[in-house]
Amino acid sequence: MTNNAFVVNKTEDGKFVSGIEQIETPTIGENEVLIKASYSSLNFKDALSSVGNPGVTRNFPHVTGIDVAGVIEMSNSSEFKKGDAVLVTGYDMGMNTDGGHQSYVKVPASWVLKKPATLSDKEIMTYGTAGLTAGLSVNELLQNGVTPQSGEILVTGATGGVGSITVSILSKLGFDVVAISGKEDKIPFLKDLGAKEVILRKDFDVENKKPMVRERFAGVVDTVGGNILSEALKALKYDGVATCCGLTSSFKLNTNVFPFILRGARLIGIDSVECKIEKKLAVWNKFENEFKIDTLDKITNEISLEDLPSAYQTILDGKVVGRYIVKI
Ligand SMILES: NC(=O)c1ccc[n+]([C@@H]2O[C@H](COP(=O)([O-])OP(=O)(O)OC[C@H]3O[C@@H](n4cnc5c(N)ncnc54)[C@H](OP(=O)(O)O)[C@@H]3O)[C@@H](O)[C@H]2O)c1
Repeated sequence: MTNNAFVVNKTEDGKFVSGIEQIETPTIGENEVLIKASYSSLNFKDALSSVGNPGVTRNFPHVTGIDVAGVIEMSNSSEFKKGDAVLVTGYDMGMNTDGGHQSYVKVPASWVLKKPATLSDKEIMTYGTAGLTAGLSVNELLQNGVTPQSGEILVTGATGGVGSITVSILSKLGFDVVAISGKEDKIPFLKDLGAKEVILRKDFDVENKKPMVRERFAGVVDTVGGNILSEALKALKYDGVATCCGLTSSFKLNTNVFPFILRGARLIGIDSVECKIEKKLAVWNKFENEFKIDTLDKITNEISLEDLPSAYQTILDGKVVGRYIVKI
């Protein structure tokens, strides 16, 4: 079986070089499965792995790709049999375990989910880790009492993978979405996804010395961290809820206690990587129902393994719009 893979190698002088190689098809051990991949996707974390970021990947050579959809080729688990349609997002796949950017992917069976019946592999990978993270974030707002009647929801990093899917889900659920983006030319794109208003990042990413500002947002889905999350917390309405999943602006968060002790604000962390598989499954079920969005075509950029280097650069430059999916 030919196994085409996108491999990152570390050279003797500590540089990282990548490209397509034919590598050995993995052999599986107890409670492991081999997946014949049909589609994968690209996420910010894959881009970091591709340039050797040690916070993501320390073992090289390495195959990138934290998401994969396909069918079971071989199984040493009673849970799965050859031909089952499946998907994997997160856990260690694409970090220090070879990932989805190859023809055959070996993973522990405990990381694998049966494919949602009404979604195609292409749709599943358009959601991917980004969609799962968006879904988990929206779930937290809903479970903590935020409703469309509560007021506007702020979504940051809005043209990115997590941001664009979050805007789409929230608007489908009837929320008034205010999007923050660095891309002035993508305001029509964000309005087309359902944003009611777009704030330019440069107008919000400011270090404001005031401990709080006028109450505006009932909820915040933040994907960028830094000043933007700090300012968003100060603008939460009474009982407001903010979720935090990312760091494309900064991993730092300079805040103060006033939004929490005077307005009852809540800040909730989101992790879609190690979260329990049951929690992942609950979001995938929603993607077949209330979270199913009709904007997937607008946010999908389909590429092949050959296109990964330029797509990774686009992500690292913060210029990505929507989701890259990779046909294997
Ligand atoms: N916790 C988890 O489980 C989890 C899961 C998935 C992703 N994440 C994290 O969430 C973040 C977003 O992921 P993603 O897949 O959506 O990434 P992405 O597709 O690369 O999008 C990131 C977006 O962030 C904005 N951005 C870029 N540079 C920025 C800067 N310097 N300051 C402020 N905003 C900037 C851009 O949107 P605009 O131009 O529209 O502003 C960009 O499109 C990443 O940090 C990722 O690692 C975490």
